[in-house]
Amino acid sequence: IAHGKPAPRVSWWAGKRDALLAIAAEGTPRYLYDLSIVRDRARDLASVDAIDRRYYAIKANPHPSILRTVVEEGFGLECVSIGELEHVFKHVPSLSPERVLFTPSFAPRREYEAAFAKGVTVTLDNVEALHRWPGVFRGRAIWLRLDVGYGGGHHAKVNTGGVAAKFGLSLQRFDEFVEHARKLDVRIIGLHAHMGSGIDDPQHWRLVYAELAALADSIGTIETIDIGGGLPVAYTPDAETFDLAAWRTGLEEIRAAYPRFKLAVEPGRFMVAESGVLLLQVTQVVEKDGVNRVGCDAGMNALARPAMYEAYHGIHNLSRLSDAEAMEFDVVGPICESGDVLGHGRLLPASTAEGDVILVADAGAYGMAMASTYNLRALPAEETIE
Ligand code: LLP
Repeated sequence: IAHGKPAPRVSWWAGKRDALLAIAAEGTPRYLYDLSIVRDRARDLASVDAIDRRYYAIKANPHPSILRTVVEEGFGLECVSIGELEHVFKHVPSLSPERVLFTPSFAPRREYEAAFAKGVTVTLDNVEALHRWPGVFRGRAIWLRLDVGYGGGHHAKVNTGGVAAKFGLSLQRFDEFVEHARKLDVRIIGLHAHMGSGIDDPQHWRLVYAELAALADSIGTIETIDIGGGLPVAYTPDAETFDLAAWRTGLEEIRAAYPRFKLAVEPGRFMVAESGVLLLQVTQVVEKDGVNRVGCDAGMNALARPAMYEAYHGIHNLSRLSDAEAMEFDVVGPICESGDVLGHGRLLPASTAEGDVILVADAGAYGMAMASTYNLRALPAEETIE
């Protein structure tokens, strides 16, 4: 993928319009995931030789068929709670614990104990846990999550680096952690950093690797360096597709400079965002003080990203894709919040009417995973196609 030359946007659904309309007729709101797109993204990353281990961050979308697809493609799974750990072993029974990473944040003691009991790789990101729960960690091998001091991402709320972020051990306390780990006979065999979500700069990960590799040299026991997820997706029509070629080259170069360590990544969004659409139905079309609104049968309860991060998702009237005359609408949901807007000023057919099927694009990541029953509205249904 050449830089500056955006590849055509992935809009697999346009060619499957009739099938999608039939699926929507079974009931909305409904998420639909095309597993062949997930497979394509998995293979994009599987082809990067510099990467030794790939973990899919299941928080982006824990649908069982998606988990099975990425595991089939050679990925391990990254989990952040006991619920996610139990979910992956339930739905992918063949999964060996060595392929599972546990990277929680401020989790209770019992979740670390349960993770060790399951035999998965456990990542710790503070020294206080070692002090308070020596019995949990004594004699164990762990990974250490660091905050390299800077992060990034599509919104301040997903930047996981620096003083404002709760994640990761500060580099200032690195020596203290290593020393205390030694006292407890804890072997640090991995260094980890995930610095944000939706980071545009393909060089970000090589810088993080270099930083961690230098520290790894000072410890001597490190086998793996995990540089996190955070790969972006082009949500807006004018966004450039992520420069995967530059990312790959950067990793190859830095991996060659520090060949002693295995390189791991843990993408979530990149793997699944484009594979998913949210199908809604128009409930009412209303004009108020010159603003035209298309109301749908779900909004922020089904897809929280626009309300939470001002995130952009393409919105299309699937029932009238070829309709020529368009006008601007705010696309809203049925939730009792003024923030319940899926998109402002979107061009949709002027004839948009009750019963039309609305498609919200690129909704496969952090869509269903963050849906709620707010206002006691039902959760969306989910379906997969290949
Ligand atoms: N690894 C760790 C430790 C993480 O915390 C995350 C995401 C990932 C990997 C995967 O990041 P990704 O490749 O998906 O960027 N709800 C937000 C995103 C929150 C990301 C949380 N952590 C959104 O909808 O944009």
